[in-house]
Amino acid sequence: MAELQEVQITEEKPLLPGQTPEVAKEAELAARILLDRGQTHSVETPYGSVTFTVYGTPKPKRPAILTYHDVGLNYKTCFQPLFQFGDMQEIIQNFVRVHVDAPGMEEGAPVFPVGYQYPSLDQLADTIPCILQYLNFSTIIGVGVGAGAYILSRYALNHQETVEGLVLINIDPNAKGWMDWAAHKLTGLTSSIAEMILGHLFSQEELSGNSELIQKYRNIITHAPNLENIELYWNSYNNRRDLNFERGGDITLKCPVMLVVECNSKLDPTQTSFLKMADSGGQPQLTQPGKLTEAFKYFLQGMGYMASSCMTRLSRSRTASLTSAASIDGNRSRSRTLSQSSESGTLSSGPPGHTMEVSC
Ligand code: BEZ
Repeated sequence: MAELQEVQITEEKPLLPGQTPEVAKEAELAARILLDRGQTHSVETPYGSVTFTVYGTPKPKRPAILTYHDVGLNYKTCFQPLFQFGDMQEIIQNFVRVHVDAPGMEEGAPVFPVGYQYPSLDQLADTIPCILQYLNFSTIIGVGVGAGAYILSRYALNHQETVEGLVLINIDPNAKGWMDWAAHKLTGLTSSIAEMILGHLFSQEELSGNSELIQKYRNIITHAPNLENIELYWNSYNNRRDLNFERGGDITLKCPVMLVVECNSKLDPTQTSFLKMADSGGQPQLTQPGKLTEAFKYFLQGMGYMASSCMTRLSRSRTASLTSAASIDGNRSRSRTLSQSSESGTLSSGPPGHTMEVSC
């Protein structure tokens, strides 16, 4: 039914007198966003109840896009600006989205009782099969930021057959070393939990710039009614284990990966493509949704999920020579990503792109 509504808006709505196709497209996007408010579910897992929100309808032969947010945020504060970005609509209309909230991070979550044993990041990864089973979804493309990127990587290491691709933004795959702990303890002497989390989310430059976005997120985190819960997720993040990625070894991500910032030294350079972009700080999905959307399109096209015919004219002209043909119907083919400059950055690689790195 939701599918039908989408089609009616795109196919049958006539242009109003004097309305340009561009204005009609914007109106259509706004209507689609308004119609699809998402459905929130909770599922019991061995590590407590987990809440997630599903947008769109499942598409046959297509993975779900499953997101996992960073510490201090929830799915909305982490991903709404990206998923509601104009150009993102032509991508996400082809996928159902499952946005997971870490326990106690969902809107209106009650504060956990004192002494509550919050799951480790590895245990949070182990809750994902319960969600997929509940929804009867077999494969995903994961999109994670910070702690969420770590959780999705751990899930992918344990369930590689269910992960078709991963977008990892600002992942730190290593456990804290003793130097990190010393610095953490020292900072904790003079800073509040909220400030420490802000320091994890944003660069020092961004924080001292104190833009409207920083003020907004400082306000959200400082006044969060579930700040105690957030501290528990923060502690789990700080106690994470090494993911122990091994280049060419057994412990490695087998699916295509779009890696946003750092971590290239851990990946096989013969399998890595690079997309360099201008500065976008610690949360590029908030500050540079356009650049990330474009990179995501290249990534999906490389996996065979975005035909160039469903991309914007601008993206199409940039990517026409970058990728081999891919069908929107799920007839997937691995493609190459080749050297090419664009306004937002540079793409370069040698052999067929399996992993793509985006430096923000
Ligand atoms: C989505 O369409 O996937 C979405 C909408 C609102 C917030 C986050 C994601």
